[in-house]
Amino acid sequence: MMIELGHTDKNAASADGVIFFIFGATGDLARRKLFPAIYSLYREGKLTERFAVIGLARRPRTNDQFREDVFRSIGEFCRYKANHDGNWRAFAEHFYYMSLDINDAAGFARLNELAGNLEQTFRTGGNRLFYLALAPELFGSVSSHLRAGGLLDNAGWHRLVIEKPLGYDLQSAETLNRQITQVFREDEIYRIDHYLGKEMVQNIEVVRFANAFFEPLWNNKYIANIQITVSETVGVEDRGGYYDRAGALRDMGQNHMLQMITMMAMEAPSRLSPEDIRDEKVKVLRSLRAYASIDEVRTHVVRGQYTAGEIKGKPVPAYRDEDAVAPGSETETYFAAKVYVDNFRWAGVPFYVRTGKRLPVKSTEIVVEFKKMPDHVYFAQKTPLEPNLLVFRVNPMEGIYLKMNAKRPGSQWAIVPIAMDFCQSCEVGLNTPEAYERLLHDAVRGDATYFTRWDEVALAWKFVDRIEQAWNAGAGELHFYPAGSWGPKASQELLARDGFKWWPVQGQQEGEVVWAAPVTGM
Ligand code: BG6
Repeated sequence: MMIELGHTDKNAASADGVIFFIFGATGDLARRKLFPAIYSLYREGKLTERFAVIGLARRPRTNDQFREDVFRSIGEFCRYKANHDGNWRAFAEHFYYMSLDINDAAGFARLNELAGNLEQTFRTGGNRLFYLALAPELFGSVSSHLRAGGLLDNAGWHRLVIEKPLGYDLQSAETLNRQITQVFREDEIYRIDHYLGKEMVQNIEVVRFANAFFEPLWNNKYIANIQITVSETVGVEDRGGYYDRAGALRDMGQNHMLQMITMMAMEAPSRLSPEDIRDEKVKVLRSLRAYASIDEVRTHVVRGQYTAGEIKGKPVPAYRDEDAVAPGSETETYFAAKVYVDNFRWAGVPFYVRTGKRLPVKSTEIVVEFKKMPDHVYFAQKTPLEPNLLVFRVNPMEGIYLKMNAKRPGSQWAIVPIAMDFCQSCEVGLNTPEAYERLLHDAVRGDATYFTRWDEVALAWKFVDRIEQAWNAGAGELHFYPAGSWGPKASQELLARDGFKWWPVQGQQEGEVVWAAPVTGM
C-alpha cells in the first residue's frame, strides 16, 4: 500500500482551473521544461480541461504557430509523445499566444481582456499563475504592470513563479524582492529551486524520518561526515555571459547545494505543512557557521577553473576560450567547501560540498559516512574496516545505496564490504516525473513546500556573500584543473586534512577500486 505524505495545506485553493501566463514563451526554459511539464500533467490527468496557457513574448506568432512550437518542444523533450491526433488537438486548443512588449503598460490591459475571455471559455475560476521565464531584472516591472493592467483584480488566486538567479548578492536580492513584494504577498510567490523538485531530494526526509534504523544515528555521535557532490560534464554552453559573472558558488552553491544541506540536516517538522518544513530549513541555514576570517575561507573553500582537456575522449576548450567568457576570466567553474552546521545535532560534523563543470561524469550524490567501529580483536585483519556509507543517488540514476561490512563466505574472519543497492530508476524507469512537472503541479495546487521562502534565500546569500568578500580580499586563489579531471588537488586535501577522502560517485572511473556492487574483496 502506498502511504501519501500530506504536505498539501488542505485549505489551499484547489487545482480545478488555472490560466498559465508564460512570460518568455519563445525561450529555452519554456521549450525544454514548461511545455513538456504541462503536457505530462495533462496526460496524467493532473490538469483538468479547465486550463489555458497564454504564451507571451515580444516576437509575433499566431496561435497556430505557437501551438506548433509547443508540439515540437513536446516531441523533443517530453516523456510522453504527442502525435497530431485527437488527444493532441484537444490539448493544443488550450494554448494561446500574445505578442507583448513588457514595457508597454497598455499591452497588459489587452492581456487582461484576453484572460477574461479565456476564463469564460475554459471556466478556470479566475485562478492565474504567472510564470516569469525572464531575466530577473524584469521581475519588478512585469509585476507592477500586472497590477496596473488589472490582472490581479479578479476573483481567484494569483501566484508568481520565478527562477534563479534571485540576485547577485544579498543586497541585489533584497532589491529584487522588494520590487515583487510590492505587488505579491510572500505566500503568492513561488521561487523555484529545481533541485527541490528532484525525486531523491524529496526522498531524503522520508528515508530519514520513516526509518527506525537511520533516525537514531542521524547525529554527531554516529556520523563522521556528509559529502555532497554535483559533478557535471558540460561546460558553460551558451550561458557564458551569465556564468562568467556568477561563477559556481552563486550558480550552484547559493541554491541547490545549500538546499541539499538543509534537507539532510533539518529537524523533523512538527507538522507536514509547507511553513513548518521551511521553518526547520531556515533553522539550519541560521546555524551555518560563518567563516570567521579570510584565512578560514582560504582553508575551507577551494576555487577552481577548467583548462582545456577531454571529456569522454573528445577534446574540449578551456573555460577562458568559451563563448562570451572574458579571456583572462578569474571566475570559478568549480568549488569545494567544508561547512559546519553549528547546532546540537551536528556540532563537529563536517559537510563537504563540491561542484564543478567539465568533470568526468554527470552525477549528483549525497554520501553519509558513519563513524568507524572500535577496533576489536575479532576485526583485526590486514586491511582496516571500511566505514558504513549511506548514499542518496540523486541524478541521473536515482536510488539508495548502503555499504556494510560482512563476513566473506567460506572464510573464517575475513570481513568485506557488501552493497545493498536500491536502484529506483531501474525499478520504475526514468519516467518518474521531472522536477519541473512536480513543481508546476505543486504551484497549481498551492503547495509551496518545495519552493524557497524569502528568509531561506536571504540567509543563503548571507553565507555566500561572506565567502565572495573573502575571495575578493585575497582568499580566492584560483586552482586550474584540466577538463575531464576531478577538479583541483586542493579539494582532495580539504578532506585529507581531516583524515577523510571523497567517496567515488556512481559512474566514476579512475582506475581505482569502485566499491559499488558487485561486492568488492570477495
Ligand atoms: C542550474 C545551473 O541551476 O543547474 C546550471 O544554473 C546547472 O549551471 C544545472 O548545469 C544543473 O542541474 P541538473 O538538474 O542538470 O543537475
